[in-house]
Amino acid sequence: MVTHGVRMLAERSAASRSVPDRVCWCRISYRQHFRPPAALREIRHADGTRTHELTVDLGQVVSPQDLQRCFAEALDGPQRAPGVDIGRFGPVGASPIWEFNAAFWNHMPGYMAAVGRGVRESIGGSPDDGQARTREHARRFGTLLAAAAAAAAGADTASGARPARPLAYLDVGAADTGYAETLIRHLAATCHTPMHYVVADRAAGALRRARARLGPGRGPVSVRYLALDLAQPARALEEYRGRLLTVHLTNLLDNLPGEELVQVDGRHYLLHTCLYLPAAALEQLARQHRLDPGQLAADLSNLADTGVDPFLAHYRDRLAVRGGAAGEHAWFLFWQDLFGNPADRSTGLKLRERLVEVPDAGIVSWPAPAGPLPPEVLAPGPDRRIPLSDRAIGACLRLIGLLHPRGVLEVTDVMLRDQRGAAPYAAYHGPAKFDGSVVNWFNGGLLMQLAREAFPGCRATWRSPASPGRAHMTTLEVDRGAP
Ligand SMILES: C[S@@+](CC[C@H](N)C(=O)[O-])C[C@H]1O[C@@H](n2cnc3c(N)ncnc32)[C@H](O)[C@@H]1O
Repeated sequence: MVTHGVRMLAERSAASRSVPDRVCWCRISYRQHFRPPAALREIRHADGTRTHELTVDLGQVVSPQDLQRCFAEALDGPQRAPGVDIGRFGPVGASPIWEFNAAFWNHMPGYMAAVGRGVRESIGGSPDDGQARTREHARRFGTLLAAAAAAAAGADTASGARPARPLAYLDVGAADTGYAETLIRHLAATCHTPMHYVVADRAAGALRRARARLGPGRGPVSVRYLALDLAQPARALEEYRGRLLTVHLTNLLDNLPGEELVQVDGRHYLLHTCLYLPAAALEQLARQHRLDPGQLAADLSNLADTGVDPFLAHYRDRLAVRGGAAGEHAWFLFWQDLFGNPADRSTGLKLRERLVEVPDAGIVSWPAPAGPLPPEVLAPGPDRRIPLSDRAIGACLRLIGLLHPRGVLEVTDVMLRDQRGAAPYAAYHGPAKFDGSVVNWFNGGLLMQLAREAFPGCRATWRSPASPGRAHMTTLEVDRGAP
């Protein structure tokens, strides 16, 4: 297909028809994501000049005729693909897609019931399903707990101090409680020291369901429930400062917004996007859900001002008029067709993309306690993309700062391991979609580097792969380095 494409572009050029300055071919394996089959991406240089790059997703182009049509749409039509824009261009980490993601987790049970799938199925399974892995986690936590308790008891006896408050296992992400149920059972059977098992999530509904399933705990394991936005973990977790012996994050950091730095010809650009619903998808959505297309277009174009939650609530009311539970069901199906139905790639929101040069990549904002982006990340090299995972790495650094001296942060996710935090230019690492959620690969290599700089003496180790047969699912562990 690429050979066909190169020939077509040469023919266009010979016939003096418009051709892009660059072409980026890729094959996106996610069933749903935010890229159309082909799109023209503007590159804004710091000196005010602009060039254009054509991006082609070979996963969505099935024949040379298809490719010919995509080229004509992207290169001969108006510069912008027709559709309703939702807001303006801005850094991808500020896109409304992240509000859609949060709304999905708030309504997850109803959404999944309406589309007829379980949450683990929706996200392509989880390493937390593995019973042997969970048993191993219980054994390791038991060993850590016994050592930390023995060290603390020795210090208390020597100083005459009261024993410290119980040490804790923090498990963030309560969408599925299978892992917590198994781990608590093993810990209750094997540990003798009182401990807190802290279940945390940003979604209130997930915490309520977790409480109903897990209860107050058993034996020495007391279960606590914590409303926590991982993007700002410090305040909610203050009471656990110095008591966190394990922080467990599986399939979590891929849910946090992040910026993307792109290196082309030795220069650095930030990815800016504008969310839109293509015209054909809008018509199909309105027809399928018996809505007025003009009104729907107007509501979508206001969505960046009204916010995603009020928009969805408005359509819930409108579709509920059609009747009780059936109306609720119809609302979730509308939501799925708007966001992107995995069974039909012609549906769903897309992102227009633009690269905006940042003359000094050091200006990329970075959360404390990390310093500026390490210079080697920005060193000249082949063209590449650097998912900064800035909110996620910021969260990890704050969590490491809250750990017990013997504590461990354990991250399992779709992970980039390159020490310079880079991925090949054409590779696609998100944002992609799983039903109503958004998935971004996590830049583990960059976390490793920044953690070592922020916490001298800490140890960062890869444990890979986290799941047999899923090499991209990696575990990264960081401990504070206490002997
Ligand atoms: C993909 S599920 C992971 C569940 C489980 N760890 C697993 O692997 O099956 C993601 C969970 O993260 C929660 N979540 C998403 N963003 C969050 C944030 N910023 N802070 C805290 N929890 C968040 C969601 O509510 C959801 O429960």
